[in-house]
Amino acid sequence: MNEVAEATGFAELWSSLADLGRDRTTGGYRRFAWTSADLACRDWFASQAADRGLTVEVDRNGNQWAWWLPDSGESTTEVGAERRCGNALAIGSHLDSVPDGGAFDGPLGVISSLAAVDLLRARGWRPERPIVIANFTDEEGARFGIACAGSRLLTGQLDAEKARSLRDGGGVRLADAMAAAGQDPDALGRDDERLANISEFVELHIEQGRWLIDQDAPVGVASSIWPHGRWRFDFTGEANHAGTTALDDRRDPMLTYANTVLSARKKARLGGTLATFGKVSVEPNGTNAIPSRVRAWLDSRAPDEAALDAVVEQIVAAARERAERDGTAVEVVNESRTAIVEFDHGLRDKIRKTLTGVFGPVPQLPTGAGHDAGILAAELPTAMLFVRNPSGLSHTPAEHAETADCLTGVAALAEVVAQLAGVRPGTNRGSGA
Ligand code: GLV
Ligand code: MN
Ligand code: MN
Repeated sequence: MNEVAEATGFAELWSSLADLGRDRTTGGYRRFAWTSADLACRDWFASQAADRGLTVEVDRNGNQWAWWLPDSGESTTEVGAERRCGNALAIGSHLDSVPDGGAFDGPLGVISSLAAVDLLRARGWRPERPIVIANFTDEEGARFGIACAGSRLLTGQLDAEKARSLRDGGGVRLADAMAAAGQDPDALGRDDERLANISEFVELHIEQGRWLIDQDAPVGVASSIWPHGRWRFDFTGEANHAGTTALDDRRDPMLTYANTVLSARKKARLGGTLATFGKVSVEPNGTNAIPSRVRAWLDSRAPDEAALDAVVEQIVAAARERAERDGTAVEVVNESRTAIVEFDHGLRDKIRKTLTGVFGPVPQLPTGAGHDAGILAAELPTAMLFVRNPSGLSHTPAEHAETADCLTGVAALAEVVAQLAGVRPGTNRGSGA
């Protein structure tokens, strides 16, 4: 059996999470922040960490952290004392999902981090400095609308008051959802102490495109993340009877919305950008009624900031122009925006050099997907490893990576941890928790 599979029990680890939050009819995951599915995943994380003797904490923003501390000869289970070293290497990812998400987006990074610790221990290695595995909360923003909410709050990129008042589709406030899960919403906010104690973050993630397939490589390293954001469009008109209202008498916001979707596609194609309307809610949502309101969310991404500004401006202009013709109205609110991220060159090059020595050429690739590593990049050196995805599909139950590639990803992450955290072959000092 492959050394990594044997040392880490990767298959069992993978299957221990596989059923949590999975919808039986679609096979997709519905692990939305602070729901019972998310809480089950958080319990799973805490128990996996505890099984390894790692000390688990939840920070003021709901992110979970599991610490593997160097053997200091004194109070090694005291996270507080070790954290003051201020030089921890963080690894990890997230466990929440989009609606009907795949099994890999997020969980692969968390599971690979646990497995990398197992592998290093099986090889007799011990860390020279603290290693901490993170499970960032609400990375997808599927429930409350803001992606990477946990890492944005941690770094102050999301205002605590704004976060507390975010509402889900059923009107539940984020603050109330957190409180119901036993997390104090008043504690939300930038966490200087925690940030000061982490010196780098490396996130392993499934690739969400086909770059590595084309390069014939099982793992790659991220170069940058495209700037991206979310905009809410509120199209309003007049509800009326579908059978008695003449077409010329209608003020139908669905018509304005539909034309805006077509314009978005065209403007994005012409500008070499991306524009997606993937979520929509209709009022009153009756088959035989013209809607009074269509609320839709635009997700747009581009290779640079100017191109992103341009495509969104064009889509908004097209929506307004069409609303004028349809006798409807449109209001647009920017709900979130993430600037372009260029990952730290020094860290990236060090990782590529380490991995190339062991695995052969490791391609470098940009991504259009957002990640907690992109948010933390504003505070500390961050890097990402991608694992090949043969379908190129993501945010769908069809998302997939071959087990052999996942095991290579674990081995690669372990090499990176060993290189960065000075992990060295240890003496026989137990698990070193
Ligand atoms: C996260 O997966 C995003 O890019 O939306
Ligand atoms: Mn995702
Ligand atoms: Mn992800």
